[in-house]
Amino acid sequence: MPTSADLHRRRSAAVARGVSSMIPSYVSHAGGGTMTDVDGREWVDFAAGIAVTNVGNAAPRVVEAVRRQAERFTHTCFMIAPYEAYVAVCEQLAELTRGSFEKRSALFNSGAEAVENAVKIARHATGRQAIVVFDHAYHGRTNLTMALTAKVMPYKHGFGPFAGEIYRVPMSYPLRDGRSGPEAAALAIGQIEKHVGANNVAAVLIEPIQGEGGFVVPAEGFLPAMAAWSREAGAVFIADEIQTGFCRTGAWFASEHEGVEPDLITTAKGIAGGLPLAGVTGRAEIMDAVHPGGLGGTYGGNPIACAAALAAIDTMRELDLAAAARRIAEVALPRLHDLAAKHAEIGEVRGRGAMLALELVVPGETGVSGPVPDPAAAAAVAKAAHELGLLLLTCGTYGNVIRLLPPLVISDDELDRGLGLLEQAFATR
Ligand SMILES: Cc1ncc(COP(=O)(O)O)c(C=O)c1O
Repeated sequence: MPTSADLHRRRSAAVARGVSSMIPSYVSHAGGGTMTDVDGREWVDFAAGIAVTNVGNAAPRVVEAVRRQAERFTHTCFMIAPYEAYVAVCEQLAELTRGSFEKRSALFNSGAEAVENAVKIARHATGRQAIVVFDHAYHGRTNLTMALTAKVMPYKHGFGPFAGEIYRVPMSYPLRDGRSGPEAAALAIGQIEKHVGANNVAAVLIEPIQGEGGFVVPAEGFLPAMAAWSREAGAVFIADEIQTGFCRTGAWFASEHEGVEPDLITTAKGIAGGLPLAGVTGRAEIMDAVHPGGLGGTYGGNPIACAAALAAIDTMRELDLAAAARRIAEVALPRLHDLAAKHAEIGEVRGRGAMLALELVVPGETGVSGPVPDPAAAAAVAKAAHELGLLLLTCGTYGNVIRLLPPLVISDDELDRGLGLLEQAFATR
């Protein structure tokens, strides 16, 4: 087998440099809470392929379902010849998402595609155009979703012009705005009413806990207030649960923590145990506003990805991975708070379930938007972690947040090892 160094040489001559990788090691195999590279080194996985392999890599049921489906047929295009697995995934999405109303779903390939389609559906259903998004939001890298995404570098720099009728308002960010949820919502709503006009808003699009933007957990009351305003305004409230969904935060979906019932939910990542699949699920009258043929795509809801999703969802149910995520928080949070007590640059420990973060700041320094971010410290900790064999991601508008996203099937021993490596990374960076 070629070494990572061999593969890196080949990559440099063949792969565009715009597609970068966090570590220089190439994967051989992965499962549970670990990954092994082609040089034989084992890594503890606190990344889960960015919140994708919630059921673990190469999860047995997923592997078997993929094999069985691939033997029967690999693709027909649901728009040509439909098949049961697509319908079954939509049934599961209706059952797993909140709300006792009638629901419909449509399936796509990636998170960005799901978000784009949710926007198309909301515009069609309301006959309006304006889409409200939030500071620090991340919704993808296609042209429309770049416009919806906040952070310029690396996601938007040089890639414009961007789509119109997108309006950005302040997010509730307790560490930085010091506002209660209702206060932060009043500020956002005031801006929407002033700059857009309630009657023009097709949709309010929000991540219930922001992902790439820094694992920002809005203050209690913010999400329900934004959902209530949307309903009152006749706008569609869309929860982007692409990173937070499928048990990641200790519930099937993060909007459940505050009892919010979104009109539409976008899903992807954890839905199919590592195969590319995404969905838009929501109120039947909104979803069905679109004319037949108005939604689709060649691969959307590919049969192998749907079979994998059904197996992944079964696994989540059977192993109660929402409870597993809550248990990861119970084990990790005390360790992270101890770490914060030792390292003054940890300005905040936050998150829910197995979506946890440390925001790094310059101790004692405050700027216009709260504690001064320290992206260099976050990069140094991540680098030290990688040298120690821990797959660890950073995130945040300011690049100063360390995020923990282990597979939900990580064993106690692997979790303990990973947290130990994180502590060591802070001590040795
Ligand atoms: C909240 C959220 N929305 C959308 C996306 C885009 O998903 P994808 O990368 O599958 O297009 C992501 C990916 O990180 C995400 O976290």
